[in-house]
Amino acid sequence: MDYIEQRMGQEAAKPTPEVQTIATPINFILLSLFVFTLYYQLRPKKVAALPPAPPPTVFQTFTPPTLQPFNGTNGKPIYFAVRGRVFDVSTGRNFYGPGGPYENFAGRDASRGLAHGSFDEDMLTKDLEGPLDDLKDLDADQRESLRGWEERFEEKYLVVGKLVAVGDKEAEDAKA
Ligand SMILES: *[C@@H]1O[C@H](CO)[C@@H](O)[C@H](O)[C@H]1NC(C)=O
Repeated sequence: MDYIEQRMGQEAAKPTPEVQTIATPINFILLSLFVFTLYYQLRPKKVAALPPAPPPTVFQTFTPPTLQPFNGTNGKPIYFAVRGRVFDVSTGRNFYGPGGPYENFAGRDASRGLAHGSFDEDMLTKDLEGPLDDLKDLDADQRESLRGWEERFEEKYLVVGKLVAVGDKEAEDAKA
């Protein structure tokens, strides 16, 4: 074989210097890293679906007289009590606020009225300083009706405290 021909054959078999430079293992690793980083940046991100946190509420102890001011007439929230639990019904202002169909309940123990399906004054405990309405005289239907209301309120409104009678030990502790 001719010398020149032999040289050209060797030359053709070798990769060109340029190709050799690009195809180094280091470059392959760098490219892999780059692609991975790009994927990592652009991948669809899973955002943890947290339910909205309820606004922080201090759990308070009320008596009928301390609950009464929360009747919507003075810029305060609107509360009422059902079987000893105080609900914040401010978002239901159209119903429970001044001029609403259930305004009598605002700032009061609404238990008896709800059980009877009546929004009359005489459903409310008259003596705010006296014992809470024990509701012992309610019949089965009235109890069931009251329970139904409670379930609706539990879904819609926050419980912000409890109602106890004036002079109750818990009321005294809360005052202290
Ligand atoms: C509402 O609360 C105010 C005190 O903030 C009181 O003077 C008023 O008598 C209350 N209204 C009713 C209907 O209880």
